[in-house]
Amino acid sequence: MRRIVCSLAALLLTACPTVEEEEPPTPVPSVEDPSCSDEILSPSGPGGGLAAEPVEAHAETYGADPDPFQVRLQWPTSQPHISGGFLWRTDAETLASTVEWGVGDDLGNVTEGSSFVYGKTDAFAGYRVHEVRLCGDLTPGTTYSYRVGGAGGWSSVAQFTTPAEPGSFDSVTIGIAGDSRGAYTTWASVVALMEAHDPDFYVFPGDMVDLGVVQSEWDSWFEATGDVLRSKVLVPSHGNHEFLATHYFAQFSLPGNEQWFSLDYGPLHLISLNDTVSGDNDIEVFQPNFLETDLADNDSAWTFVAHHQPMYTASTNHSSNETLRDTWSPIYDANGVDVVINGHNHLYERSVPITGDAPDDDGITYIVTGGAGAPLYEGTDTPWYSAVANPIEHYIIATITGPTATFVVRDLDDNVIDEFTVTR
Ligand SMILES: [Fe+2]
Repeated sequence: MRRIVCSLAALLLTACPTVEEEEPPTPVPSVEDPSCSDEILSPSGPGGGLAAEPVEAHAETYGADPDPFQVRLQWPTSQPHISGGFLWRTDAETLASTVEWGVGDDLGNVTEGSSFVYGKTDAFAGYRVHEVRLCGDLTPGTTYSYRVGGAGGWSSVAQFTTPAEPGSFDSVTIGIAGDSRGAYTTWASVVALMEAHDPDFYVFPGDMVDLGVVQSEWDSWFEATGDVLRSKVLVPSHGNHEFLATHYFAQFSLPGNEQWFSLDYGPLHLISLNDTVSGDNDIEVFQPNFLETDLADNDSAWTFVAHHQPMYTASTNHSSNETLRDTWSPIYDANGVDVVINGHNHLYERSVPITGDAPDDDGITYIVTGGAGAPLYEGTDTPWYSAVANPIEHYIIATITGPTATFVVRDLDDNVIDEFTVTR
């Protein structure tokens, strides 16, 4: 059981031995990962428009500007210890979609993927995103090097480390921030501040950009993010400012239908949901069904859920989403969810622990983290469930260590503005 106990406050698999040039690439054992598919789906957002058709890789086809940019590591799978993926942009004419990768410094494995174009008009060739997935090809607890592109233009080499098998270790550190919207300079600061704590990965509960249908906003967001996402994964939830746009689904390669999904990392089962949807059934039928099924199979020590709109907020701007509270919270209560991470209101908030819409020392802590750059919402009330409500730009470092999860919330001058622990 969880309980708030206080408040306030690779194996660098050293490179495989140097491989002789004439030696073939090291064979990589493939482990079944049913959550990972080699099939690259067309990222057509349910919001409509800009449907993109996937194109198989053409290794020797290059445009005038084939150098990869916006290279990012992804988890298109619920099993990041054995699977991963890579996305990057090039000019629209470049079709080569290749990743060279290997353990340590080796780049001896070659995997082809595919690409897709969206935003094409008679006067504009469109935006091309390339995607390669390694499904079950990775070894847990191993550091890899990789580069993407093709002979016409390679990215520089980056590294990433897979986690050990779920449940085999009991600590993880996560950087959490939400609602950067158009404030890309602030977002760049938040990323740098979080990265200074060297988290294992990031969670972002929605509203990265102001207008999710505008590619230049995504370009600004990635430019502000820098190279961090080449080595560490950011797990997003869809926010209302992403507009269910094809652009959003094109930026990320996520498990399942990319709107509601889960993954396992060490001691943590992380669920990401979508509360800005195209139909009521998505809220009242499909995601409850997903949650029931997903949580029935969950044997992780810890369970966090992230989605955009808060069920419990003291802000006078957006009120608490009572439909979500009535529909999803009972499932959280019945299935051992520990912490819920939301955004949407531009402030920092923490609830008292709650079960069954009432205070309960063993209940769920609901966090609102909407302070990564969007205009702050100053007004707050004092409802029974509010423990902290602070309109301030901030970020959160959450560290799970065995039976304790510690959340440290800092402003952008790096002052601690809240700290609390949850225990099991
Ligand atoms: Fe929002």
